[in-house]
Amino acid sequence: MTVNQEERLYPCSFVIFGATGHLATTKLLPALYHLEQAGRLPAVTNFIAYARREWDDATWLAHVEATLRGSLADKFDREIYGRFARRCSYVRGDLHDTEGYRRLLEEISKPKTGVCSNLVFYLAIKPSDFGTVAEQLAAVGLNRPRGLHRLVVEKPFGEDLESARVLNEVLHRHFDEHQIFRIDHYLGKETVQNLLVFRFANLMVEPLWNRNYIDHVQITVAECAGVETRAGYYDQVGALRDMLQNHLMQLLTLAAMEPPPALEADALRDEKVKVLRSIRPIPRRALHAHAFRAQYAAGNMGGRQVPGYQQEAGVEPDSVTETFVAAKLLIDNWRWRGVPFYLRTGKRLARQQSMIAIRFKHPPQQLFQETPLENMDPNWIVLRLQPAESMHLEIHARQPGLGLHTRMIQMNAGYRGDGERAIDAYEALLLDVIRGDATNFIRFDEVEWAWRVVDPVLKFWAQERDFIHTYPAGSWGPEEANRLFEWEYQAWRNDA
Ligand code: BG6
Repeated sequence: MTVNQEERLYPCSFVIFGATGHLATTKLLPALYHLEQAGRLPAVTNFIAYARREWDDATWLAHVEATLRGSLADKFDREIYGRFARRCSYVRGDLHDTEGYRRLLEEISKPKTGVCSNLVFYLAIKPSDFGTVAEQLAAVGLNRPRGLHRLVVEKPFGEDLESARVLNEVLHRHFDEHQIFRIDHYLGKETVQNLLVFRFANLMVEPLWNRNYIDHVQITVAECAGVETRAGYYDQVGALRDMLQNHLMQLLTLAAMEPPPALEADALRDEKVKVLRSIRPIPRRALHAHAFRAQYAAGNMGGRQVPGYQQEAGVEPDSVTETFVAAKLLIDNWRWRGVPFYLRTGKRLARQQSMIAIRFKHPPQQLFQETPLENMDPNWIVLRLQPAESMHLEIHARQPGLGLHTRMIQMNAGYRGDGERAIDAYEALLLDVIRGDATNFIRFDEVEWAWRVVDPVLKFWAQERDFIHTYPAGSWGPEEANRLFEWEYQAWRNDA
């Protein structure tokens, strides 16, 4: 039996820190319920909530039931819930208080938990508390495994290169790198995982996937939502740290990496790190040509007037935090040298849309006189990640009728067939954590190299605190974001 197979048979105690918080309520509980429903949980799996409220198991379960009923509505199933509830218990404790961790140790060691050899500690808490929890777990001996002990942490990991290194050092005092699972939920999305299949399971894609044929690549993650109730967090962080340093950079690595020698966690992550290391550092003197930021002003979203960012509850009235960021990155390696990767993300944009759009170069010869090559649109492959999930191809074909004319035709292949259920990213990632599969989690060197790329921008912007471009909510961001394009014919693609 391989180590991996053995691991899967281990009973698993899954501890959620910050169990009554927003992430646990909106994402973790529904995802775990769905794993129960799909029959994917090992027989002995327990979910232990760790939180400050003076609750007991019964109050916790009432909360779990209400949460699941709320999020699942008519898909809530009493029988599945009954099975799920039998796995749940509550430990009251403060993050800073060793007594609580002792109670946790007792709960983990109860007979119903089986041999506590496979432990997951999910930190659904503020990053500033990660170190405390790691230390307290170590104080009661919960870091040194008899089986597998894992610490799951959310992004952003640190707030710049320096703080990420410090945080890493703190965690590494008590946990080894292979025990730390850094989540980027984009890696759990089915359509993001499909990117590797698209690139490496189709022979026809690979020969074209390089600087000889590709003009540029655009990665867009556009959101309609504003800052909502998260101003306390977001106003300190901004779009560059919240989205680009992690989600968009991960999409870039998957789009640009070489095929790994095997589909194994470290083999894959080695290739992603190589891409990040090859990104040309953004020079301070050319920063405006590589990075652009803006903030949403009041505007109209689908007929509804919405406030500007500075008017949102909890946002400083003179905040220059960016809600839109665009960047041009160049990857200096044999495959990509000279091909710009344009990344863009923003809140309160015209439409929710995430995609990777690849624009090809023109054919080398102008053969079709009636439709001069200069006026012909190039080929595009667009991988639509959400909410549309499809592979979209734009190619030329002869136009029916007299005379030789061409027109662009669009081929669109949906990712999901009728009745195929969409799996939430957290569902996939939590199952990976339980199994100990780190393939879709971020290794520290990935975090470090991604911070290196954005750090010069963060530093520059931190000094420019008196002005930020604005865009009306409901638009595609300011015109000025076009200044990043290398050539006049390049333009942002906003698909329907
Ligand atoms: C989170 C960010 O990581 O991703 C949010 O903190 C953002 O600001 C969210 O809204 C977007 O995720 P998704 O899955 O809705 O695209």
